Amino acid sequence: MEGISEQIKGFIFNLDGVVVDTARYHYIAWRRLANQLGFDFSAVQHEELRGLSRMASLEKILEWGDIYMTEAEKLHWSDVKNNWYVALISNLKPGDLLPGVLHFMRQAREAGMKIALASASKSARQVLRSTRMETFFDAIIDGNSTRKAIPDPECYMLAAQAIGMHPSECVIFEDAALGVQAGLAGGFHVIGIGNPEYLPLAHFVIPGFEDQTYSGLLARFSESMVSHS
Ligand code: BG6
Repeated sequence: MEGISEQIKGFIFNLDGVVVDTARYHYIAWRRLANQLGFDFSAVQHEELRGLSRMASLEKILEWGDIYMTEAEKLHWSDVKNNWYVALISNLKPGDLLPGVLHFMRQAREAGMKIALASASKSARQVLRSTRMETFFDAIIDGNSTRKAIPDPECYMLAAQAIGMHPSECVIFEDAALGVQAGLAGGFHVIGIGNPEYLPLAHFVIPGFEDQTYSGLLARFSESMVSHS
């Protein structure tokens, strides 16, 4: 019988928090906005924003600050935050890729895996350009190519389609609980990146790609799926 590892032919990587640590720049920019509006929020609270769209993030922050805004004001402030964010990421360099991720993706590529990138961010291409990763992927789906935010699986479905795969043939690498939900809703295999406490629904969780090898991870993931079935 065909095992999971024989079934998997494509890897889909989320960007923010999986390939590059851009989450800290989102935090700096959102926090600056909150401070201008007269309040503050913590890094722990910011964890709740992982994977949320720009507008959904702003709405959550306004809830924390107990602030009402008209739709026009929300558009204005989300633009202000985005300008700060774009300025912050303008100095990203190849050395800002998260430890081990490029080595892992190269091993996967050499083993014949198709590799796609799926991100909710409209600035994903800028991040990829600065880190010299724009031409690495077989397909890139970003916030400009999608209409529905996660937990809708649209960005992952589009990524799978772009590399010619069925969701059951792909593993998604995700750091956001909402992104994990999106992957599961689309029928994908999902490996969580980060703390297992925050990613209880992922099929398997690793802290990051440091010290991971392509074949070792696929074998452990495969074994865990057998023991859960
Ligand atoms: C996701 C991030 O990848 O993109 C979120 O995890 C962010 O924090 C979202 O809000 C949208 O990004 P952007 O750059 O289009 O505002």
